[in-house]
Amino acid sequence: TYIIAEPCVDVMDRACIEECPVDCIYEGGRMLYIHPDECVDCGACEPVCPVEAIFYEDDTPDEWCDYIGANADFFDKLGSPGGASKVGKTGYDSPFIAAFPVSTK
Ligand code: F3S
Ligand code: F3S
Repeated sequence: TYIIAEPCVDVMDRACIEECPVDCIYEGGRMLYIHPDECVDCGACEPVCPVEAIFYEDDTPDEWCDYIGANADFFDKLGSPGGASKVGKTGYDSPFIAAFPVSTK
């Protein structure tokens, strides 16, 4: 799977959503999350993110490896809805992100 990491937090550009052919990029309160089971590894989202927040899971920089779990944990409540557009904005985040200090960038 691909994952979204720290540069997305409090930025949420959303360009990635338009690119995903399977609509598996879901909107949380402070960042977006890729569904690890629904992502088909097409990679279309990765180059369009203006802050380079998206990585193939195995290529995630070490300092952001916690985001692999954070993307998966986001779906503890949601399960596998099979499409982000019908879910819309959830307004909540993975515990790891909810605890992340509000950025000054
Ligand atoms: Fe976030 Fe980049 Fe998508 S900032 S919402 S991962 S385009
Ligand atoms: Fe979609 Fe990106 Fe996966 S475009 S299928 S989330 S690699």
